[in-house]
Amino acid sequence: MTKSKMSQQHKSLLQGRRDLLKLAAALPLAGGLSACASTTASDKSATAAATSTPKPSAVRKPIVVSTWEHGMPANAAAWQVLAAGGSALDAVEQGVRVPEADPAVRTVGYGGYPDASGEVTLDACIMDHQLNCGSVAGLKRIKHPISVARAVMEKTPHVMLVGEGALTFAKAQGFVEENLLTEQSKQDWLVWREQGKAKSQINLENHDTIGMLALDSDGHLAGACTTSGAAYKLPGRVGDSPLIGAGLYVDQDVGAATATGLGELMIKTVGCHLVVELMRQGLNPQQACQRAVERIAAKIPNAAEAQVGFLALSVSGEVGAYCLHGGFNYAVQDASGATLTDAIHLLPGVVV
Ligand code: GLY
Repeated sequence: MTKSKMSQQHKSLLQGRRDLLKLAAALPLAGGLSACASTTASDKSATAAATSTPKPSAVRKPIVVSTWEHGMPANAAAWQVLAAGGSALDAVEQGVRVPEADPAVRTVGYGGYPDASGEVTLDACIMDHQLNCGSVAGLKRIKHPISVARAVMEKTPHVMLVGEGALTFAKAQGFVEENLLTEQSKQDWLVWREQGKAKSQINLENHDTIGMLALDSDGHLAGACTTSGAAYKLPGRVGDSPLIGAGLYVDQDVGAATATGLGELMIKTVGCHLVVELMRQGLNPQQACQRAVERIAAKIPNAAEAQVGFLALSVSGEVGAYCLHGGFNYAVQDASGATLTDAIHLLPGVVV
């Protein structure tokens, strides 16, 4: 990210804050931020909106969706599994391994931005259609945290392993330790440190988690989410991506949701669980994602300084996405082909 781009972003952040205030009385679904801030009012309004939503006549399956442009090659890998009749769980694991291994994707896996101490630490989780889930946080020196998360799910009685315990478990499972800090990431970190930045860099430019959701030929849902987290985060910081309910949630009765953006905002609102529960009340995925973003914008001070985006897939194969600032896009692949779509956003202006 160039300095001029960053400065443009700072301007757009300030503008965004002003815009948020202006929007307070004008939100179409919630009747304004004050209405959105009330859980009861918001959820009643959600149910009302759902009543007029036509139900899809046929299930769209198999299908895979994921966050950001790096979701395109990830979806292509997942699609190979789905098109061959494989499970959604296998598809999402294979899919997100693509950006995990790609050093050009700076916010996921190998080559991701390190923490403030210069160490790359990874967060990931995976969930299937039966509420089985596995997660790792603060995992070092293992290229594919999503596969470790799956091993936690399938080979332990636990849901989540962190730090040294996660690494010890991964090695015991045969995962190979390797250096995840590429020369590019090291140089960027050195520049960041030399500039004397006391604070970790958590802003609009380092939020590109991959979250992936799939519906297989059997009609089963699964999801995966994996990231290197916020650039130059405080060592030990955990974002939303490994937290079931915050960065990912799957409920076979309803649908699935995943998130990207500043994890603290999704944690405070248990954002993906919120999206799924809004879908359970009858909202379609698009409406549910919008309502969750509105909730964040209304309830969390300074939310406009960050980006958040939700992506949801219903058990019928309906897709929806919504974000706070423009610039978030999502990839979809099914039998009709692959697409990349800009998500609708709450605040005016687009961050690139
Ligand atoms: N959404 C990724 C993170 O905040 O770590």
